[in-house]
Amino acid sequence: GSAPPELREQTLVLVKPDAVQRRLVGDVIRRFERRGFKLVAMKLLQADRGLLDKHYQQLRQKPFYPALLSYMTSGPLVAMVWEGYNVVRSTRAMVGDTNSAQAAAGTIRGDFSMHVSRNVVHASDSVETALREIGFWFQRDELVAWESSDRDYTY
Ligand code: TYD
Repeated sequence: GSAPPELREQTLVLVKPDAVQRRLVGDVIRRFERRGFKLVAMKLLQADRGLLDKHYQQLRQKPFYPALLSYMTSGPLVAMVWEGYNVVRSTRAMVGDTNSAQAAAGTIRGDFSMHVSRNVVHASDSVETALREIGFWFQRDELVAWESSDRDYTY
């Protein structure tokens, strides 16, 4: 049978171009795997402006938006969908504060990022946002449903 709905919450995580260039992809993935979340989609791609305008539609009027666009298109990024209990909230906690200087040690940004303009990862900020963002970055058939054979350990 399939997992109950609360275990099937999903979130979008982007490993941003600075992190790909710094060879941090594995470190980021490792943290989500260790937490117990399930990887259900992943790809390396060069984002274009159209996609980023949708993804960051709330920020398009901000003064930093042109710099954000040039950063986010500076090389390939890794887009992933992670699934599990309260994954949106837990992932935001693991990522840390937007402003790297305020991000707690032990968080991804607190451990790997010095400045907001190179803050290593993106994670959806609510369940509703996650649904929308996953739709921007992935086709439906790119999400893979799978179960562990050891179903008492995970789900
Ligand atoms: P935001 O959605 O506010 O933060 P988060 O990524 O934590 O959800 O901002 C999106 C990205 O915009 C942020 O990760 C980095 C960039 N940004 C800047 O470059 N300068 C800024 O002053 C802010 C607020 C964000």
